[in-house]
Amino acid sequence: MIVISFSTINFRVIANIVVRTVTSAKKAEVVFQPYGKRIRIALGKTLMDAAKVLGIDLVSICGSRGTCGKCKVKIESRIDAVGELTPSELKHLSKDEINESYRLACQTPILGKVIVSVPERSRVGKQRLQTEGLEVPVIPNPMVKKHFVKLHKATLKDPRSDESRLLEALKTQHKLDKLELSYEAALQIPFVLRESDWKCTTVVWNEEKIIAVEPDDTTARCYGFAVDIGTTKLAGFLIDLNTGKVLTVSARMNPQIPYGEDVMSRITYAMGGSNQLQELQKAVVSGINEMIRECCEKGGVKPDEIYETVFVGNTCMHHLFLKIWPKHVALSPYPPVITRGINVQASKIHGLDLNPNGNVYVAPTIGGFVGADSVADIMVARMLESNEIIFDIDIGTNTEIAIGNKNGVLICSCASGPAFEGMHITHGMRASTGAIERISIDPETLEVSYRTIDDVKPIGICGSGLIDALAALLKAGIINTRGRFVKEMVNTTDRLRLRTHGLEFIVAPKEETNTGNDITITENDIEELQKAKAAMHAGASILMKKMKVAENDVARVVIAGAFGNYVDPESARTIGMYHEFSLEKVKFIGNSAGAGARMMLVSKSAREYSQKIVKKVRYYELANDPDFAMEYAKSMYLPYKDLDKFPITKELLQRLGRSLLGECETDN
Ligand code: FES
Repeated sequence: MIVISFSTINFRVIANIVVRTVTSAKKAEVVFQPYGKRIRIALGKTLMDAAKVLGIDLVSICGSRGTCGKCKVKIESRIDAVGELTPSELKHLSKDEINESYRLACQTPILGKVIVSVPERSRVGKQRLQTEGLEVPVIPNPMVKKHFVKLHKATLKDPRSDESRLLEALKTQHKLDKLELSYEAALQIPFVLRESDWKCTTVVWNEEKIIAVEPDDTTARCYGFAVDIGTTKLAGFLIDLNTGKVLTVSARMNPQIPYGEDVMSRITYAMGGSNQLQELQKAVVSGINEMIRECCEKGGVKPDEIYETVFVGNTCMHHLFLKIWPKHVALSPYPPVITRGINVQASKIHGLDLNPNGNVYVAPTIGGFVGADSVADIMVARMLESNEIIFDIDIGTNTEIAIGNKNGVLICSCASGPAFEGMHITHGMRASTGAIERISIDPETLEVSYRTIDDVKPIGICGSGLIDALAALLKAGIINTRGRFVKEMVNTTDRLRLRTHGLEFIVAPKEETNTGNDITITENDIEELQKAKAAMHAGASILMKKMKVAENDVARVVIAGAFGNYVDPESARTIGMYHEFSLEKVKFIGNSAGAGARMMLVSKSAREYSQKIVKKVRYYELANDPDFAMEYAKSMYLPYKDLDKFPITKELLQRLGRSLLGECETDN
């Protein structure tokens, strides 16, 4: 019998529990328009919480901390059914927006029944997801193989165990003599053997362990699944392991996005406790499961028939998928918990929808935030087999840059931030329907032309459009090499105008847009983009210096990643995202992380090779480099402070009659 002493009870704790129980028992209905989705949710939860449960993807850069101001929604009815405006809302909402009942979803607690509408700009939207990557042919030799065997029935004269007769059959019929029967397969074997007249298919992992037993001959059906876990996007590939062929492909947004757009926001969220870490794992697993189900349905395969999987991702994605405490990856000196490739039984990744006896291989990472996606990039670009020097850049929220050849590769990760994903940009957005993806400005007439994704009226500008815009504004002389608007141009074009926050350039006037507002670029936006490109350029400069490599020594410039594929290489070079390489050297390899994951799934040797890459590639921590800050400051210029390092762009700007700011000149 348990005796509780009243003196040990903290009455305040009891009171809190009672209050929480009463509050959480009360729920209210929230309706999201234009989706028509509704939910009854506990009072006190935020509109963002409700949206997450309903699967409505609201833009969230800051992981619901109220600092990005991107999750704006409009209260359509019962403004009194939500909490008071918070200080962060007063900071991020304009007076007009407050008058029109706009709120930040992550800051707004629900107090009663409420109808909310989600404006276009706050929706994540249908993202352009690229799954193709350069295929490198590999000979199929997967970790999992199936073997059909016929056994002798147990008799009074031969009462050996099921296990002994199965191992003997595999030895005599397939020359496999070092196998061990797993506990999970032992649970299946008595039923399978007797149901299928002592004929069965064994699922053997790495020629060492029988992980499952299936009735009859199922050797023709042996499947694997490869996944690229990107910070923003997921891509999944269903593969026939007998042939190495891709059967079906699926892609979607990473469901962790509402918890934060970048790796640091997600780690901060995870650090809230084990429940929050679990929430992030659950979110990514749910997205992976959706891809598995979609691919299986299209390919006529059951998820239960998948016995082998490979996952690649940066160090943060790696840790969150495995539910490994990620805190220290975010703090100097940034040590990951593990970097080697790891095999985990599928049933241990909570909720993962494939055969529970299957194997999950999470590919090795390199160091810092440089993960298995970079290992895959290096594998696909064949950097360690090349005689010539390759410059490999995988542009993303974290941009990885690798330089080298078979004699050695140095790699770093630059915190380039989400500006090229359209974040922290007034009218920035992801590459989805209605995003302006191409912009040009006639340097003579200053006429603006643009193109949107899916050819609809524009609602914002995505990364490739922003890079074009910067290059076009520079060539047109509307901004100078410091990224500042040239004030005198106000007299030359109506598109440049003065607002309370400073000058801004109208890319698309409101009559042409789908939002009813002008789509503009401000000086702050330009500065955000300069910071992102400066991080990349400075990272590359430091690596090139360390490797004693000059522009002309680089034989190939490999641009990896989904975003890179849509960037105009000339615009990127004009603004100095990378060094002034000849454009003929530039090659796009698309989603090489996905291609590398497929190679590691189909071929044991590719998987072994990935371990070799990790050993041979050296990671360089930019944060420790004494020259980084100076290089970064010079890289903030468009394209670079010392224009002699960009002779092609310098000549072009001179030809167009643009004034070039030297070291001592100012633009004031
Ligand atoms: S302010 Fe709400 S998600 Fe950032």
